[in-house]
Amino acid sequence: MSFDLVLFGGTGDLAWRKLMPALFQAFRHGSLPPDGRIVGVARDDLSDDQYRELIQSRFSAVEGAKRPSPEEFKKFASMLHYLRMDLSKPDDYARLAGLLNQRDAKTVVMYVATAPALFTQVVEQIAAAGLNGPRTRIVLEKPLGHDLASNRAINSAVGKVLEEKQVFRIDHYLGKPSVQNLFAMRFGNALFEPIWRREHISNIQITIAEDLGVEKRGAFYDQTGALRDMVQNHALQLLCAVAMEPPINAHADAIRDEKLKVLRALKPWTPESLGLHAVRGQYTAGTAYGERVPGYRDEAGVNPDSRTETFVALRTEIANWRWAGVPFYIRTGKRLASRDARIEVNFRPTPHAIYRAPAGNVNKLVINLQPKDGLELHMLAQAQDNRQRNGHQSSAAQLAPVQLDLDFDKRFGSERVGAYERLLLDVIDGRLNLFVRSDEQEEAWRWVEPLIDNWESDGGPRPYAAGTWGPSASSAMIARDGFSWGEEQ
Ligand code: BG6
Repeated sequence: MSFDLVLFGGTGDLAWRKLMPALFQAFRHGSLPPDGRIVGVARDDLSDDQYRELIQSRFSAVEGAKRPSPEEFKKFASMLHYLRMDLSKPDDYARLAGLLNQRDAKTVVMYVATAPALFTQVVEQIAAAGLNGPRTRIVLEKPLGHDLASNRAINSAVGKVLEEKQVFRIDHYLGKPSVQNLFAMRFGNALFEPIWRREHISNIQITIAEDLGVEKRGAFYDQTGALRDMVQNHALQLLCAVAMEPPINAHADAIRDEKLKVLRALKPWTPESLGLHAVRGQYTAGTAYGERVPGYRDEAGVNPDSRTETFVALRTEIANWRWAGVPFYIRTGKRLASRDARIEVNFRPTPHAIYRAPAGNVNKLVINLQPKDGLELHMLAQAQDNRQRNGHQSSAAQLAPVQLDLDFDKRFGSERVGAYERLLLDVIDGRLNLFVRSDEQEEAWRWVEPLIDNWESDGGPRPYAAGTWGPSASSAMIARDGFSWGEEQ
């Protein structure tokens, strides 16, 4: 099946850090259809060969085993082409059309990995050049807009020239093998479904912690912040995956309909909950892996008086029959104590205690997303025979925590298909299951918007030292409900 993949932002960070390595892995795994062209588009004046050299030099930053050998790169590079374009000039889109019309590829993928401010312009120009026919699919990177109105404006501009089935709004978390496993665990097994509800679950915690700072993306990040960068998309998609009803089948709209219902059922913010159930923070200088690291305001590209949040912790509820009253906590941030993404499902304690049990959440299912990928089921067991202790008869048996551990990396191999590889192949094949529909995205913006508005006028983010778990207000928020964050128990 022939395809042309046009990569707007072809020399950008995302292109060489994620997309090219993913395309190369697909090529290496033999899953990229052979008759394909990948056309990098950017403003620089480069020939095809110079572009190939640039991409090859960037591959040196790719982790060891995923790096191509010179022979492998040579084969892969024959698919790579380059087109210099000024994205505001219609003539340049006409040149793109000329290139694409040289042949009759079955699928044309337009991957828009540019600054979000250019999305609408690019989509309109693609259409004006007649490049929006049925064989075209467009991929839009996040963040799509910076609030509900700008998101709607992009979606409506796109909707005027393309059908919804041609639009692939990417959220790379949905492509992660661990997130696929979450769907498989919930909807491929009957085991947990009967207890996956308020009667048995006391609270659910979603953590996406990063140990890195803003790296070279300071200028972008300072305009964005953790709420728009991680919560509006990745964290809410995880929340949907864990809370949605079983879809009627595995088709894209069946899945997206159920996710949308969860987003619509999220409790709206009130002046009270905005104060009590939302904490934001910004990292100050600290330590990461034994090294001193600068504070956020000292990072390149960041305003020295910045009020942008690098940490968010939220508490919400889902107002429906399955989840009413169960707190869902979301926490994400940069420069936290470790890189760790997971979902913890905490079950209710036994209704009546006949054992002496350790404090804290006893039964929990931990869905490890990264760096580990797997499941842990935490339980209590009788660790030893306690009848005779120090020569005395013990009055109550002592239990100890144990866990069942499922390590998917060990079971399936850690070289599984990565998120971008999987999603790029899905676009080429036209599979929309793991992409976000416009109504889902708008609903997620609608829910986060009161936070954005509130934070414009409040006292600013709370400081936390790099290398910690964020401001103490985050632990205080969850402690008010009688719970604590998983790793703090
Ligand atoms: C991106 C954010 O969407 O996700 C980044 O823009 C963040 O700020 C990244 O670092 C995290 O992705 P992953 O796959 O490394 O967890």
